[in-house]
Amino acid sequence: MQTKDIQSQTYYTEECRRILKDQEQEQGRRLTYFAQSSGCQMNNLQTESVCAVMEQIGCERAEDEHADVVIYNTCTVRENANQKIYGHLGRLKSLKKKNPRMKIVVFGCMMQEEHVVEKIRKDYTFVNLVFGTHNLHKFPEMFYHALLSDSQIIDIWKDSQEIVEGLPTLRKYRFKTGVNIMFGCNNFCSYCIVPYVRGREKSREPEAILKEIRELTEDGVTEVMLLGQNVNSYGKTLARPVSFARLLEQVEEVPGLKRIRFLTSHPKDLSDELIEVMAGSKKVCHHLHLPLQSGSSRILKEMNRRYDKEKYLGLVEKIRKAIPDISLTTDIIVGFPGETEEDFLDTLDVVNRCGFDTAFTFKYSRRTGTPAAKMPDQIPDDIVAERFNRLLALVQEKGRIASARFLGETREVLVEEKNRESGILTGRTEHNLLVHFPGPEELIGSYVQVKLTECKGFYYFGVLSE
Ligand code: SAH
Ligand code: SF4
Ligand code: F3S
Repeated sequence: MQTKDIQSQTYYTEECRRILKDQEQEQGRRLTYFAQSSGCQMNNLQTESVCAVMEQIGCERAEDEHADVVIYNTCTVRENANQKIYGHLGRLKSLKKKNPRMKIVVFGCMMQEEHVVEKIRKDYTFVNLVFGTHNLHKFPEMFYHALLSDSQIIDIWKDSQEIVEGLPTLRKYRFKTGVNIMFGCNNFCSYCIVPYVRGREKSREPEAILKEIRELTEDGVTEVMLLGQNVNSYGKTLARPVSFARLLEQVEEVPGLKRIRFLTSHPKDLSDELIEVMAGSKKVCHHLHLPLQSGSSRILKEMNRRYDKEKYLGLVEKIRKAIPDISLTTDIIVGFPGETEEDFLDTLDVVNRCGFDTAFTFKYSRRTGTPAAKMPDQIPDDIVAERFNRLLALVQEKGRIASARFLGETREVLVEEKNRESGILTGRTEHNLLVHFPGPEELIGSYVQVKLTECKGFYYFGVLSE
């Protein structure tokens, strides 16, 4: 059935191509598309799939919204992401007046919320196509209808049971990419909207993941990032369950692969087996993103995270013992309903004790439909802002110390890009630290030894070493 689905999409891709060719001839120029992704890396991958279709139908990528097709893949994890989309759409209205044939496509997580779709239907009638997170594989078909119609097309699925394999992709880098290993989330952290907009947790079959990675390495990829909202529970829903640690071992066997990363680990499901595999592996990078969210056991309970302060600290200790050079990064929310100064001090305490390289810090954002949105004692903005600033200062201070631990050492770096103005190359170490150093452009995509000569807080300057 999946193959049939993809085949019918090939038909629509061809039809879109034919329609656009006619338009191209009429206008005497190539048609262009602009695509922007917000949110997590899983969203980025899905945007790349849409971009691949746009290229297949003959559109050229544009740098900004002065394009014939404008596509936004949306995130709704925090309110400010939503506001940005409305801002973008507001500006598109006048652009579309100048180019009435412009097609506007909005999709992704935000569109799984009824009140958002209602608003677009009412206030943004010039948007041509709206779809959610579950029917991306039908994009060519939906876009085909949008090309033929002047009315707004809305196609939102509530959830989906299966994973459609074989979507086209377009990589930003030829040598590294993300690979989705699972979709959705079953954890229902009380503040989080992701389980509502991404649906139930579903894992891809290991064979499908391995096949994709083999094809990627044959095509020049040497670093993969395995992606899921909670990779530590990978495989639990499969007919033949497989643990994430076992999957990593199988991925490690793929020839040509040099680095394996993964995101995101939930502390409640981080197994000893995984720590063991990471410690023993030559390819799994010694970097672990382990979202803390709060250091207060009381708040963690209210958040439904299913671990407490002691368990988190114990986990960090265990990981550091098994993998002494591990880089730890985290996510922290400030101002969850009911958070007291004492709770907040617990968060600072954990940051003080864990030695994170970086922590992504967020002000709590009230998401309609989540249990936390209805909790009493929402924290006033000024208190949240004040705590946020204190946390950020500590995170930066500690991050500087943690990141500087490799100063003076020579480390392997995967060269990613060259800065157009300065001509300086940029790459990443296994520990996910950025390094800038002079060198020729031909090195992009290769692994080189770089001496880390200067630490600038969260990144290094270095020199190529023989
Ligand atoms: N699945 C991942 C997180 C995905 S969302 C995990 O559990 O670790 C990325 C981050 O956004 C979360 O870790 C959390 O710190 C933050 N976040 C999620 N919902 C939020 C909200 N309502 N307000 C503020 N930050 C939020
Ligand atoms: Fe959200 Fe929690 Fe699921 Fe992460 S694990 S996506 S924070 S519900
Ligand atoms: Fe945002 Fe959806 Fe990812 S809400 S964080 S884009 S899963």
